[in-house]
Amino acid sequence: MTRPLPKALTGLRLPAVASPMFLISGPDLVIAQCKAGIVGSFPALNAREADGDPIMLDAWLKRITEELDAWNQAHPDRPAAPFAVNQIVHRSNTRLERDLEICARWKVPIWITSLGARPEVNEAAHSCGGIALHDVINNTYARKAIDKGADGLIAVAAGAGGHAGPQSPFALIHEIRSWFDGPLLLSGAISTGGALLAAQAAGADLGYIGSPFIATQEANAPDDYKQMIVDSGAEDIVTSSLFTGVSGNYLKPSIARAGLDPDALASADPSSMNFGAGRSKPKAWKEIWGAGQGIGAVQDVRPAAALIDRIAGEYQDALERMVALAAARKGE
Ligand SMILES: Cc1cc2nc3c(=O)[nH]c(=O)nc-3n(C[C@H](O)[C@H](O)[C@H](O)COP(=O)(O)O)c2cc1C
Repeated sequence: MTRPLPKALTGLRLPAVASPMFLISGPDLVIAQCKAGIVGSFPALNAREADGDPIMLDAWLKRITEELDAWNQAHPDRPAAPFAVNQIVHRSNTRLERDLEICARWKVPIWITSLGARPEVNEAAHSCGGIALHDVINNTYARKAIDKGADGLIAVAAGAGGHAGPQSPFALIHEIRSWFDGPLLLSGAISTGGALLAAQAAGADLGYIGSPFIATQEANAPDDYKQMIVDSGAEDIVTSSLFTGVSGNYLKPSIARAGLDPDALASADPSSMNFGAGRSKPKAWKEIWGAGQGIGAVQDVRPAAALIDRIAGEYQDALERMVALAAARKGE
């Protein structure tokens, strides 16, 4: 048995959170995702301003809050899903304290933390009525995150875009679910409604979907990145720690374009990770493009709402198949 989900994760059109993606997710994408009925999110670090300019994170949160409020007033029958902001909790993120204060002031409903579990970040989320979800790649980190006060977990399994884990989603979800009855999301190559339902069958409450949203009109990605997502499949993804110091999944053609051999990459030292203003390897993400193994399901670049419609239709079909399977098994 699992506990009832917090209110922010209920009443969604689909049991899904659109994951935050460095450089790619901004207000246009988040607003489209929330209006289409799934949780939209962005990394706080995507909101950048030049020295002396007004704070961009503040402007983004104002716009998202106001546009979603206006939508809810105009469409009380299909209100927008809540949104989430991702905080990179790493010593090189020098903006963290400032960003926590801004998010608390805007009463961000869902806080997603990565790369470090810290009680004060969870406390900041709770101070404004929000919930904190922490992403983890194994059971040890999952226990630590809950001990430090996270409300829920995002299990990042093999095949996820960006910084992925090495473990099978079945193994990871099983190990975490054997002791944790709170909100549990599964991340990694969920690109179809069938995969979303499979995540729930395996024990997750919701799926966490990233890479398919790169190939949407609202994503802040160059057109050739979007097209590479459409043209590529699982075989075009390589796992490497070279670019950020942590193991992540990237598009092979983007690595080849940068003049490296994607099949013969060296590995890197984790101490080279840097999320501060001056990243040591600016080429990662900008030129070496991240993506998960699920992109074979992406056939075109379309509006985010149309992608969510596609996944919703497949989810319904998959549910009906399982109901028919259950009925057939009962009759056997
Ligand atoms: C290009 C790219 C950038 C990402 N940037 C972040 C990030 O800044 N913060 C974060 O928590 N996760 C980040 N992720 C990971 C996603 O949150 C999520 O775990 C992943 O996209 C899910 O797997 P999928 O891409 O196969 O759907 C990124 C993923 C991609 C593909």
